[in-house]
Amino acid sequence: MASLSPTAPAPASARVLVASNRGPVSYEVRDDGTLSARRGGGGLVSGLSAIGPDADALWVCSALSDGDREAVRRGAGEDGVRMLAVPADVHADAYNGIANSVLWFVHHMLYQTPLEPSFDAEFRRQWARYEEYNAAFARALAEEAADGAAVLVQDYHLCLVPGMLRELRPDLRIGHFSHTPWAPVDYFRMLPDDISAQILRGMLGADRLGFLTRRWADAFERCAAELAGGLGDTRVGVHGLGADADFLRKRSHAPDVTDRMAALAAEIGEGRKAIVRVDRTELSKNIVRGLHAYAALLESRPEWRERVVHVAFAYPSRQDLAVYRDYTAEVQRVADSVNSRYGTPGWTPVVLHVKDDFARSLAAYRLADVALVNPIRDGMNLVAKEVPVVSDEGCALVLSREAGAYEELGEDAITVNPYDVTATAHALHEALTMPSDERAERTKRLAAAATALPPAQWFLEQLRALREAGPRDA
Ligand code: F6P
Repeated sequence: MASLSPTAPAPASARVLVASNRGPVSYEVRDDGTLSARRGGGGLVSGLSAIGPDADALWVCSALSDGDREAVRRGAGEDGVRMLAVPADVHADAYNGIANSVLWFVHHMLYQTPLEPSFDAEFRRQWARYEEYNAAFARALAEEAADGAAVLVQDYHLCLVPGMLRELRPDLRIGHFSHTPWAPVDYFRMLPDDISAQILRGMLGADRLGFLTRRWADAFERCAAELAGGLGDTRVGVHGLGADADFLRKRSHAPDVTDRMAALAAEIGEGRKAIVRVDRTELSKNIVRGLHAYAALLESRPEWRERVVHVAFAYPSRQDLAVYRDYTAEVQRVADSVNSRYGTPGWTPVVLHVKDDFARSLAAYRLADVALVNPIRDGMNLVAKEVPVVSDEGCALVLSREAGAYEELGEDAITVNPYDVTATAHALHEALTMPSDERAERTKRLAAAATALPPAQWFLEQLRALREAGPRDA
């Protein structure tokens, strides 16, 4: 990647730029005042490394924590990353207030509509901050991009950036990728008219828009047709991010994973089957109904008592938001109530872990008999794709038809309506009783479908399509 730091940016030299709220690195100030850096993974990281060190790539992201802001102040940034020191209060309004409490809710259809949403003066105040935050990204990208460079903007946090950037730099090739679903038009137009129009104008500033599935792309096109007079010059493409088989197979055989398998097997108990789920505790993941479905299974089919354990990993997410904290507490409460209702001295029906531990997640993937992936709505859901790749002996997948992954995996999964707890209990039974050779065969096919577009190719495919789109009419 290019050698650029926040204090001494090489002017307008980047040829490939990525923009996202969360960047590939985060900082903490240690007790002795020094900074420690933590690097993340994911599709964009693999994609950018795949284009090689000489590609003049730059990742523009936001400072998210005090440690990040301190790193920017000290000019301690990584090569190839420009972190924007967005003030903490502006970021909180844009990220917590608008991105996660409005746009995420709209695209995942999470509102309890008798009382919410209510777009009032406070919403307008936060929206102005969201515009400010998007404008900071557009300015930074405009400063850094070489003539005709390709810019790949990520997600609902930055949906105004393409339009803003086009105003500043009409020479650029601008792409935007949505990692979430897109709302159906009737839901999207809950937003105030001027705001929905502004979002669509922002998105349609891009040359190319990418979505994870045809379903989300169609929903966007419908919004554009009904509320913005069509797509104009913007093209729409579908890129179904897949699992990284090479990385997962290697990582899941590391010694820390093997250790955790032993610990987990002891928690599950000899001869018992394991129904595994692994999620960030987001409102869309449907963990609570999953627990109710498991309880319904134990109730309707008592033969499973003592013979199965539900291993649920519910990792913290967006804990600044009260509604997320409440949901996390509800997951814990329902898990406890299933355990006190059905547990026996030698059997804990639900094993719930809330501390993020990737090695333990991989251990659970390896030994799962059944994976439960039942979101009420999900852009893709990579857990559904990772489990079949890693599974030791084959794993039956119970999959929500509302997950993006359903488009590619639906045929070999046992699919469920995520709101139907009784049907989900039946699906769990069917999964638990699937003959082992069928389970192994299906897992093979699921793994092949899940790895059809690995992260590096996913990124390169978008980059190629953006460059091939050609310059648009001014
Ligand atoms: O799953 C959708 C998504 O927007 C991802 O693209 C992104 O990694 C994540 O959610 C954002 O999460 P966070 O709020 O923790 O940054």
